[in-house]
Amino acid sequence: MSTNKKKKALEAILIGAGARGRHSYGKWALKHQDKIQFIAVAEPRKARREGFAKEWNIPLEMQFQTWEELLNKEKGLLAEACLICTQDQMHVAPALKALEIGYHVLLEKPMATTEKECKQLVLAAEKANRQLRICHVARYTEMFSRVKKAIKEGFIGNIININHSENVAYWHFPHGYVRGTWRKAADSSPVIIAKTCHDLDLLYWMVESPTKNIQSFGSLSFYRSENAPPGVPKRCTDGCPIADTCPWYAPRLYMTADPMIRITQRSKKRLLRFMGRLILNHPKFIKSLSHIIKPMKVFVNWQAWPATVITDDLSPEGKMKALREGPWGRCVFHCDNDVPDHQTVNILFENGVTATMTMHGHSYLDGRWIRIDGTKGTLVGRFTYGGEKLVFYDHFHVKKKILWERDMSFSAHGGGDEALMASFIASMEGVNNELGDQKELTTARSSLESHLMGFAAEKSRLENRVINMSEMRLKK
Ligand SMILES: NC(=O)c1ccc[n+]([C@@H]2O[C@H](COP(=O)([O-])OP(=O)(O)OC[C@H]3O[C@@H](n4cnc5c(N)ncnc54)[C@H](O)[C@@H]3O)[C@@H](O)[C@H]2O)c1
Repeated sequence: MSTNKKKKALEAILIGAGARGRHSYGKWALKHQDKIQFIAVAEPRKARREGFAKEWNIPLEMQFQTWEELLNKEKGLLAEACLICTQDQMHVAPALKALEIGYHVLLEKPMATTEKECKQLVLAAEKANRQLRICHVARYTEMFSRVKKAIKEGFIGNIININHSENVAYWHFPHGYVRGTWRKAADSSPVIIAKTCHDLDLLYWMVESPTKNIQSFGSLSFYRSENAPPGVPKRCTDGCPIADTCPWYAPRLYMTADPMIRITQRSKKRLLRFMGRLILNHPKFIKSLSHIIKPMKVFVNWQAWPATVITDDLSPEGKMKALREGPWGRCVFHCDNDVPDHQTVNILFENGVTATMTMHGHSYLDGRWIRIDGTKGTLVGRFTYGGEKLVFYDHFHVKKKILWERDMSFSAHGGGDEALMASFIASMEGVNNELGDQKELTTARSSLESHLMGFAAEKSRLENRVINMSEMRLKK
């Protein structure tokens, strides 16, 4: 008789079936139903709730409009795990409730939008003796796992300094931080938390030391009304005279596959670049062709992120309506945004390592660049949708070694979303996953440090002074 008993899939509930809940983690889960099964969902938007329920055969009585209906004493514990993928301001209350009921929780970042609430969550998880993991997906990417491995293996000796930048593409930044959800700090969280808590988390993870001092500068320089070209209307859909040449013309960004196809131009593959150019330069031809070759319709009526963010009705009419009426159709110079479009952070860690981190929304391509200089060598990494590469330079032996290289990939977050889910499920099985010493990845306590770094950076920017982290840690 075989002793290999088939493992039961982890039962989970989902709170918030939006871009992350349904289209990222849910999509991965659909391909790994032997590992995870969703048995209930809470989501106020009908199309999203019903769409997710259909994908998972969730009966009507297990579909809820709000997390409050799903997470309460009468319902009790329905599964082992609870994924919380609501917006930034709606993380704490459901997470506390889920922990209290007895769920292990996978919570989207940022864990909370205030330092006090971050600490409250850590204590609640520890008191409940339940896992609370934060979706710091960057740690789980192949690229940054390799950076960490190289540091651990001593390739570069002791780290002396890190230079890291989060270069957000010129069209992606407005999508999230000018027109979109995270445009106002008070309604979501400061951009240094919302966008770069991943980067601060990576730095903390690599340096393995708490932060001593932190300083930050930044402002909203460009996406402001005084920079609007003369004569442009408030909305792209109101007959903008520069529609054809404006990089932020919303119908191009959301109706077609334009932003994604542009990434192909950074690929090493000639055929991909050629195909990309064809689609970009001959939209009318592609449209005609799409009537004959049906799969090509995707290029003229894009059905994935970022279009899925602006509406649930992904027909051309539905998307146009969303652009005419919703926030994503506004001219980037005529929005109500207040978060900086560029910000730098200077960090001194307690172990003496220094680091600088830059975030800005003016890049030709989305991606993170990192350079780590140590006593024995240097690591230089480029992590973009257009390709990834990690190179080690040895000081003494004048050697250069490529540690990791991958061409353009459409996988969101460089495989981080998928690996995070696999790691969460493995940890629930009590399995030390293949990441070895990284198995403690992104517990709430380890994520707390990077959140505190972010809050301190924002405090420094606003108060124009260097923050000693002890003042963040001591404050209750
Ligand atoms: N880990 C990452 O790299 C990463 C990337 C992007 C976004 N995020 C974070 O993920 C979170 C979700 O982002 P998103 O883009 O999926 O947002 P989203 O708006 O697409 O999804 C949130 C969903 O929560 C639902 N919701 C609202 N009120 C609810 C309630 N009372 N009960 C249950 N559901 C409710 C909304 O209707 C929506 O569908 C945010 O906090 C965001 O900052 C993380």
